Amino acid sequence: MFHLGIRKKITYGFYLLLALTVGSAVLTYGVVKRVEEQVAFGEVIEDFFNTTLELRRFEKNYFLYLQEKDFQENQLYWGKLRDIFANNEAAMRLAVSGAELEQLGRVIEDYNGHMGQLHAYYLAIGPDHRGNGVTQEKLEEQLRSSGKELTEFGEKTREAVKREIKTLLKTTQTILLLSIVCLFVSALTIAALLGRKVVNSLKLLEGYTKRISQGDFVEIAVGEGEQEIRSLLTAFNRMTRELQMRQHQLVQSEKLAALGTLLSGVAHELNNPLSNISTSAQILGEEIDEDNIEFKKNLIGQIETQADKARDIVRTLLEFSRIKEFRKEKLFLQKLVEETILLIRGHAPSEVVIAVDIPEDLSIIVDKQRMQQVLLNLIKNGIDAVQGRGHIWISALGTGCGTGLDEVEILIEDDGPGIDAEHVTRIFDPFFTTKDVGKGSGLGLFIVHDIIEWHGGSITVDSRPGLGTTFIIWLPGEQQEHGYK
Ligand SMILES: Nc1ncnc2c1ncn2[C@@H]1O[C@H](COP(=O)(O)OP(=O)(O)O)[C@@H](O)[C@H]1O
Ligand SMILES: [Mg+2]
Repeated sequence: MFHLGIRKKITYGFYLLLALTVGSAVLTYGVVKRVEEQVAFGEVIEDFFNTTLELRRFEKNYFLYLQEKDFQENQLYWGKLRDIFANNEAAMRLAVSGAELEQLGRVIEDYNGHMGQLHAYYLAIGPDHRGNGVTQEKLEEQLRSSGKELTEFGEKTREAVKREIKTLLKTTQTILLLSIVCLFVSALTIAALLGRKVVNSLKLLEGYTKRISQGDFVEIAVGEGEQEIRSLLTAFNRMTRELQMRQHQLVQSEKLAALGTLLSGVAHELNNPLSNISTSAQILGEEIDEDNIEFKKNLIGQIETQADKARDIVRTLLEFSRIKEFRKEKLFLQKLVEETILLIRGHAPSEVVIAVDIPEDLSIIVDKQRMQQVLLNLIKNGIDAVQGRGHIWISALGTGCGTGLDEVEILIEDDGPGIDAEHVTRIFDPFFTTKDVGKGSGLGLFIVHDIIEWHGGSITVDSRPGLGTTFIIWLPGEQQEHGYK
């Protein structure tokens, strides 16, 4: 299909409007020109008509009183009439047909002929014999008839010109009105068509922007349409991909930073099983020749347990630090929390008590590493908050019945100082931290929020200044899970 860009469409639309405007202007100009001609012609006809009236007035007077001066006047006006006719033949041709014009020329000449004949006749018979004789009556009759024809022509044409001017003015009105309507309608149509396309695309973008800001990195299908809009959508998609990549990088680097701070704690945590193993091995070495098999078996059992413990710590650490694709799986929440605590316990002062109260069979569908990152962040914030001494409670429950859960609610509470009212609205912002430089990055909760939204869940905080803080996470249960795109 052939597609024009928006810019081209606007240009063509503009040309169309221009053509309409110029067209109507040219038409109007033509009509006005004709009105001008008709008005000029109207003046000629008016002159012609008035001259015929004068002509006939003296004709009548001449008949009545037979005065030579009336005849002379009549002749004068006849000359004027003939001049008007001769000088304006071209103008008359516009309004009157050729045949009519010829006829008129003939009538003018006839009139004068009859007048001349009558004048000669009167002169010949003298004033006393007037009124008698057939010739005189015939001549007078002929003269009257051609005079009447002249007046009638003047009157008729005068009316015709008036009518024509009226019609022309009406036409101008119609042209102007029609062109205004046309211009208006086409301008509106062009604006509406283009506007709708642009506005629709902007609306589309707005919708996608909202989704992206909520962590749903979807791509817009770039279908057919305006080239400008297509390239805008393509650029938008590129930005989305870039954003998504950076987001993942950010999460990854925050995770590594958290690991960095946890590492000394983890090393310390590893120390315990290692020194236990070492002590047990030492005792075993000393007792190796003794008889007490049971005691020695016990020591070996302890070594195995401690080695397992150390291996678990190392495995969790490795698993957590590895870069992995986002992939959701069904996990038991209690086990996940225990593993996370394994990573962080070494970091916590001994007087911080971490208590877990989660049903053993409560499962969630999450990306293991990201969810662990969430728990780690929240527990670490709790540990930081209680400042060396306090409690952290992690609990969860599922809602819903039947085959699967509708929703899982996870609570992470502490009895630290709580969050200042002025800070509460900002804690999920990137880089917001109240901690000293080097202690906090301010990225923890920002990323927690993102990760929870990637899972289609939500997180809120409930803080009681002086008493403690509770973070509440809702995750969709199996029932609601539609799979992550
Ligand atoms: N459990 C909590 N108790 C009190 N304040 C908290 C708690 N969790 C977070 N905050 C506040 O929120 C801020 C931001 O937390 P976070 O995004 O994890 O960044 P960071 O831990 O690097 O400061 C913290 O600096 C702290 O002021
Ligand atoms: Mg933090």
